[in-house]
Amino acid sequence: MADYINEIKRRRTFAIISHPDAGKTTLTEKLLLYGGAILQAGSVKGKKANKHAVSDWMEIEKQRGISVTSSVLQFEYNDFCINILDTPGHQDFSEDTYRTLMAADSAVMVIDASKGVEAQTKKLFKVCLLRKIPIFTFINKMDRAAMDPFKLMEHIESELGISTYAMNWPIGSGKEFKGVYERDNKRIIAFHGGDHGMKAAEVTEGSLQDDTFRSILGDHFFEQLKEDSELLDIASTEFDQELISKGELTPVFFGSALTNFGVEPFLSHFLDMTTSPLPRESSNGFIDPLDEHFSAFVFKIQANMNKAHRDRIAFMRICSGKFEKGMEVTHIQENKKIRLSQPQQFMAQDREIVEEAYAGDVIGVFDPGIFSIGDTLCDPSMKFTFKKIPTFAPEHFARVTQKDTMKRKQFTKGINQIAQEGAIQVFQQIDAGMEEIIVGGVGVLQFDVLEQRLKSEYNVEIKLEILPYQCVRWIDDQTIDPHTLNLTSDSKRVKDLKGRNLIIFMNNWGIKWALDQNKNLSLSEFGNMDE
Ligand code: G4P
Repeated sequence: MADYINEIKRRRTFAIISHPDAGKTTLTEKLLLYGGAILQAGSVKGKKANKHAVSDWMEIEKQRGISVTSSVLQFEYNDFCINILDTPGHQDFSEDTYRTLMAADSAVMVIDASKGVEAQTKKLFKVCLLRKIPIFTFINKMDRAAMDPFKLMEHIESELGISTYAMNWPIGSGKEFKGVYERDNKRIIAFHGGDHGMKAAEVTEGSLQDDTFRSILGDHFFEQLKEDSELLDIASTEFDQELISKGELTPVFFGSALTNFGVEPFLSHFLDMTTSPLPRESSNGFIDPLDEHFSAFVFKIQANMNKAHRDRIAFMRICSGKFEKGMEVTHIQENKKIRLSQPQQFMAQDREIVEEAYAGDVIGVFDPGIFSIGDTLCDPSMKFTFKKIPTFAPEHFARVTQKDTMKRKQFTKGINQIAQEGAIQVFQQIDAGMEEIIVGGVGVLQFDVLEQRLKSEYNVEIKLEILPYQCVRWIDDQTIDPHTLNLTSDSKRVKDLKGRNLIIFMNNWGIKWALDQNKNLSLSEFGNMDE
């Protein structure tokens, strides 16, 4: 088998999705720990002890002008080459967070055991559904007070509408979190000790039939486990790898990232069940990742906020073949040949120049302003475009005006270019006599980015006035005249840069009203990918 085929087959590229504080950073670090990629980076908790978490390095990156969104973590575990795509979650939640999911082959959903499914997880989950990628659930913080595990499973099913299958089962919770029971091999993994920081947890493993676990776990927990496992076998959905691969069934794991309980069993099962790089839809049908010809698409463009460095970095996901430094490719949208000469891969602080990379990998290339989100790059012998990345419905809106009215031209040029690149969405009012420009973002950080970039790159200062709207929807049937629709008086009819008609609503109630009042109307949360 050709070497490059082996390389592609051993790649696993995924994103971790969660609500802030559920433990994404901690779990990421622990996965890196098991992969040997970090030895002494310090657990998140170790911050106080003056050790640096990987995320701290990202903070430093940010101060230097490149935000945490640039991070892709690559490391080896057993024979796998793992790429974790970072999905910024806190104050830097933005459209980029969603776009990153377009570059992943699967997702790990981290849920806080005491809180269940939270708002941001729901949003990210919807994007995973759109892609039909496998979704694995890690229920974290079992070392703290937690919801009942049966209730948690039910809760995930009802909140997200996905079937669940418990891969392991927790034995106790909080201070009494004793271990997990692995259902596939009917083995108990009992944990010892407390917080293991950056060391693997010590465990005793054995069969459920082995009575010595009665004394290790205590009578109560041992009996409870026997009862739970019987109930699970009778009542739970059946394991079905095919449904997992289609994203219709999520395997659920219980654990505690902080104490390293259940992290390694999760990692090894996850790697067995998740997928190698997936074929990707294009104008030429599905592109096989094992095809020897290189192809990639741009899913994120990171502008440098530093005035002295106007360069941008375009992040591309390689979809087929092998990449070699300096190789010539066709940039399809511009119909131009370009040389990818300074590609970079990111492992937090170490920004390395990549010599070669394979389908499944993500590389960042210097962008002198030629790329847009969704652009296709491929071997000069090929000509096709990858299916477009959808536009995601913003949830924050602001009216923008330029401070100096003489600068109208630069303002329009700047805002259009920045929107073209995908850093912000621009809407124009279509109600009679209105010419105002409304910008929308998935996160408020996108407004700061717009403001700073217009100032530094176009020398235009703007006034941003936050508007009280919360939702926007694309009208599915674009032949409908928006003025004929019966809407609440506080809804706004707008057009996006592609001329598509949309409606901006104050809240979900406004959407419901519009749908109830206009029987022919259907609305969409994602801008169509085919336009
Ligand atoms: P995020 O990236 O999803 O936002 O979450 P992050 O990993 O930063 O974790 C958020 C908080 O939850 C951190 O505490 C972290 O230590 C804690 N945490 C993560 N996993 C677990 C777990 O399995 N068990 C318990 N008990 N806590 C967990 P913090 O107080 O914000 O930070 P620190 O003071 O501990 O550094």
